[in-house]
Amino acid sequence: MSEPKPKVVLGVSGGIAAYKACELLRRLTESGHDVRVVPTASALHFVGAATWSALSGNPVSDQVWEDVHEVPHVRIGQAADLVVVAPCTADMLAKAAHGLADDLLTNTLLTARCPVVFAPAMHTEMWEHPATRENVATLRRRGAVVIEPAVGRLTGVDTGKGRLPDPAEIFEVCRRVLARGAAEPDLAGRHVVVSAGGTREPLDPVRYLGNRSSGKQGYALARTAAARGARVTLVEANTGMPDPAGVDVVRVGTALQLREAVLKAAADADVVVMAAAVADFRPAAYAEGKIKKREGEEPAPVALVRNPDVLAELSADRARPGQVVVGFAAETDDVLANGRDKLRRKGCDLLVVNEVGERRTFGSEENEAVVLGSDGTETPVPHGPKEDLADTVWDLVVPRLP
Ligand SMILES: Cc1cc2nc3c(=O)[nH]c(=O)nc-3n(C[C@H](O)[C@H](O)[C@H](O)COP(=O)(O)O)c2cc1C
Repeated sequence: MSEPKPKVVLGVSGGIAAYKACELLRRLTESGHDVRVVPTASALHFVGAATWSALSGNPVSDQVWEDVHEVPHVRIGQAADLVVVAPCTADMLAKAAHGLADDLLTNTLLTARCPVVFAPAMHTEMWEHPATRENVATLRRRGAVVIEPAVGRLTGVDTGKGRLPDPAEIFEVCRRVLARGAAEPDLAGRHVVVSAGGTREPLDPVRYLGNRSSGKQGYALARTAAARGARVTLVEANTGMPDPAGVDVVRVGTALQLREAVLKAAADADVVVMAAAVADFRPAAYAEGKIKKREGEEPAPVALVRNPDVLAELSADRARPGQVVVGFAAETDDVLANGRDKLRRKGCDLLVVNEVGERRTFGSEENEAVVLGSDGTETPVPHGPKEDLADTVWDLVVPRLP
């Protein structure tokens, strides 16, 4: 017999981004979830019940007075494995924070005992209003995952923070939250900084020294931290990947820019994870014009200078007492011995050591590593998705937090 499909309630409230929830619904159903859409009356002004019903294959109602014999105001929430509200209006955040129950979605939120994810979307002023800030804080304190809105074009001509993140990225958060089952969002209330990608050190306006880091491991760390309730700052260098939902992204190019962005974000961080491949050296000189190939002349050698060691600096000079610092080391030989040596030299709390090779590390979807602790612990992580390694890192970070 096949496994029963996980039951997801997709709550849709009355924001202009309601149409984007159709794509989230599609992704959820196509990946084997049984989705019950519960829109609010306002949401039905934007997208009609016929669309939700046809895409989900389930009945759709916004109120408690239909199919009363099935007691839907209680049953839908009780049966759910996950409730995700996307988009979530300022009004819905307020209702959820105060426990109102005047329609089917608000009743469902009160009867659900499963993880709940809110993906707010609204104008910047509404998002920044102290009432909304307090409602978000209340919901997070109670264990809900509230995804930070993205920055960009809002309804009409306005731009700012308040945009619904990409549905594909909200889907990733849902997938991770479901995978964790009933586990608490154990990074709620924490600020986590993750660096990802590879720095590029310019030689002239068209050339640079770079490395093969794709940034996928850092993105997996950012996504999993957001799904565990953290406020996440992702400092990314040259990955070209879409922003993960609920994550503040700072884009940098060079090692010096990365250092500045990471140190700034680390000032109030509980955890800093340096997953980026930061160039050890940069060209000593930058040529303002393209270096020309000249007939009969050998190219001049490229002199290099050292870049600052950001991991060692973060570890030696913690911005906050108890801040946990995690490093990464990609090694080609003597992996564990080199890893232990690097952990000692850098002074970080955890070092994720992996062997560079085929199907592993750079560009791959999968990884295999040993996480070394400054307390002498060694945690092997078997070959698997980069998200599994990311979750193991968070599992090891959480007990180290003050
Ligand atoms: C065109 C239009 C767009 C709106 N967009 C949003 C929005 O993005 N976020 C929001 O919080 N409210 C938005 N509102 C206001 C909500 O629809 C209003 O607060 C409503 O009462 C929310 O009801 P609900 O939370 O039950 O869905 C919008 C209203 C209109 C008319």
